[in-house]
Amino acid sequence: MTAPSADPLAVTGLSVRFQTRAGPVAALTEIDLRLPAGEFLVVVGESGSGKSVLASAILRALPANTDLAGTISVAGHDLATLDRAALDRFRRSHLAYIPQSPATALNPVRRVGSLLLELARARGLSPAAARVTLRQALAELDLDLDRIARRYPHQLSGGMQQRVLNALAMVGDPALVIADEPTTGLDADLVDVTAAQLRQLTGRGAGVLVITHDLRLAQRLGGRLALLYGGYLVESSPTEEFFAAPAHPYGDGLLAALPERGGLPIPGQPVELTAPPPGCPFEPRCELRIPDCAGPVPTPRPVPDQPDRHVRCYLPAPPMVPATAHRSTDAAR
Ligand SMILES: Nc1ncnc2c1ncn2[C@@H]1O[C@H](COP(=O)(O)OP(=O)(O)OP(=O)(O)O)[C@@H](O)[C@H]1O
Ligand SMILES: [Mg+2]
Repeated sequence: MTAPSADPLAVTGLSVRFQTRAGPVAALTEIDLRLPAGEFLVVVGESGSGKSVLASAILRALPANTDLAGTISVAGHDLATLDRAALDRFRRSHLAYIPQSPATALNPVRRVGSLLLELARARGLSPAAARVTLRQALAELDLDLDRIARRYPHQLSGGMQQRVLNALAMVGDPALVIADEPTTGLDADLVDVTAAQLRQLTGRGAGVLVITHDLRLAQRLGGRLALLYGGYLVESSPTEEFFAAPAHPYGDGLLAALPERGGLPIPGQPVELTAPPPGCPFEPRCELRIPDCAGPVPTPRPVPDQPDRHVRCYLPAPPMVPATAHRSTDAAR
């Protein structure tokens, strides 16, 4: 069951299709990702681009109507080879998952204190050590373990539930941390604490995959950035280089939509995943398209002179210019 890579995460050729009455939904297509120990991988892309499906695929928590192709290795283990009980043990001990909807993640009939301590102990800590770590992580997020311990999850606000799950990720030494929108509903100072806690986790050697709509948070975390569009990984770059000059026109559009960079929304509609275009998924919205973009879908290729960046784009010289430089306000509609 040990795969060649012992990185916290290695994903190869991952495709996910949901079989629905409306036909197959192409949620993810041929994704390759690698997350080394002690690093951040920040996943960005508009709503529906496949970010949470990626997290669920890694956790092997997809519904039954799913076809999954490709391989996923977590800390050197191919989770597809584990039976249900072993998978459960592995997830509890080696993985920390901060889900996008904290409300549904906490068992509603368990008091918060005992639930947290049980989950913390599954990471191999003694009850005393689990209590100390949890208490400290919660305190950093302005929560007192004793004050929330006897409450039920529904007696906590959404922001408190988010903080409880964020604190839980800090316990033990998970090899891989997956945080899906970990700053939802948090004030700016708690976003700062959360960023610092995630950084502590990389400092302890975890690979930390952060899914976020908050591009400022993405920029602050650094590491590598994976840009999803219509279920494709359209750009993979060091985060700093992405923000300096995106290689994919979609990245350029995302940055141009930031208020401080002009606030121009990308024209057009997101991809219809039951009927994706035959070529590049961004082609219908791309101001720089050339005839090749209409099909077939471009394969990932290194950005010229930047071998640590890959882009799925036919343009001979991808944008690679500060965002907004080539966009006109007419395009904003
Ligand atoms: N069980 C399912 N059955 C059918 N389609 C699904 C299922 N789960 C997700 N999808 C579809 O897969 C696509 C990707 O969903 P996903 O939740 O990963 O988006 P996301 O990038 O996380 O968006 P958001 O930013 O809104 O959280 C969406 O079109 C969604 O409707
Ligand atoms: Mg999501």
